[in-house]
Amino acid sequence: MLVLGIETTCDETACAVVRNGTDILSSTILSQASLHNEHGGVVPELSCRKHLEALLPLVDQAVREAQIKLHEIDLIAVAHTPGLIGALSIGLQCAKGLSIALQKPLIGINHVEAHLYAAIMSQPAPPLLPCLGLVVSGGHTNLWLVHSLGRYQAIGQSADDAIGEAFDKVARMLLGPYPGGPFIEKMAMQGDAQRFALRAGRVKGKPYGFSFSGLKTAVLYALQRLEKPLTEQDRCDMAASFQYAAFSDIIDKTRKAAEEHGTFHLLLGGGVTASRELRRRFASEAPALQCHWPDTELSLDNAAMIAGLACPLYKERGGSSMELQCLSRSSLSSNS
Ligand code: KG4
Ligand code: ZN
Repeated sequence: MLVLGIETTCDETACAVVRNGTDILSSTILSQASLHNEHGGVVPELSCRKHLEALLPLVDQAVREAQIKLHEIDLIAVAHTPGLIGALSIGLQCAKGLSIALQKPLIGINHVEAHLYAAIMSQPAPPLLPCLGLVVSGGHTNLWLVHSLGRYQAIGQSADDAIGEAFDKVARMLLGPYPGGPFIEKMAMQGDAQRFALRAGRVKGKPYGFSFSGLKTAVLYALQRLEKPLTEQDRCDMAASFQYAAFSDIIDKTRKAAEEHGTFHLLLGGGVTASRELRRRFASEAPALQCHWPDTELSLDNAAMIAGLACPLYKERGGSSMELQCLSRSSLSSNS
């Protein structure tokens, strides 16, 4: 089955052709990072305009690079939730148009579920189910119990800022670019993670709930207390201390959830999994966990994970109707 995937949930326009759920024939991505960098974060209106301009040429490019003809596609898959509503709607309208013009079925895919599937696509053998699933991205910090593809039970989520969003905001305080994750990781290599005593928050009554907004504010106050101008070492130490606290929280809660649920296979997904430091710390601090990481090019937003997941889901449930809507928020656990 040849699937054309479309991804426009936030600030990457992406298109891919995937055969039989795992074989990536092409994957084209146009990042809008430099556009939003000037504004210190994603500007939804600008993002929409860029998707509109970029999408159809990217579809052409993905089909060409896959060395197929457009009419050979069997299924059109589109990320229709969650994300920025205007951005989602551009991908969805394009997918509907292609589905009508080519007379091929359409399927709506949940972006967060696709991040977890990216880890499955990256493994030679599928993980043992049920397992845990952790999505750490710019918009989500979620811990799931994955019963099977399409059946998820939420066990923890962010009560405020997502972890990637906290990286982006702290990077901005340290005069770094958007997105901030790679910048923080680089600065942290030269920094002392123990210089500032920082901790991520707890969510009352939710042992696996995540909260990063207090951590971000603690960074702001600690920076305000330092003598000005800040030295390069101050900034590196702050980056290291923040990254240390954020990752300690994720690893600690995931390890406890694995023990409570007796599931030691872990699927990981989302942009923050691009961090080599996060991968290193999971290996050294949670050796009992069998971590299934996405290939690095599948960590950040991409359309290969959308086209990939579409194949097993379509076989199980069939396609979506032309009534398919985009939803800015959605919970995977409602699928279970
Ligand atoms: O999954 P993604 O591409 O988009 C969303 O679905 O949100 O994730 C983007 C996020 C950004 O917040 C970015 O700062 C973060 O992933 N990120 C990182 C790293 N690379 C990207 N965070 C920490 N360390 C990294 N190396
Ligand atoms: Zn994402």
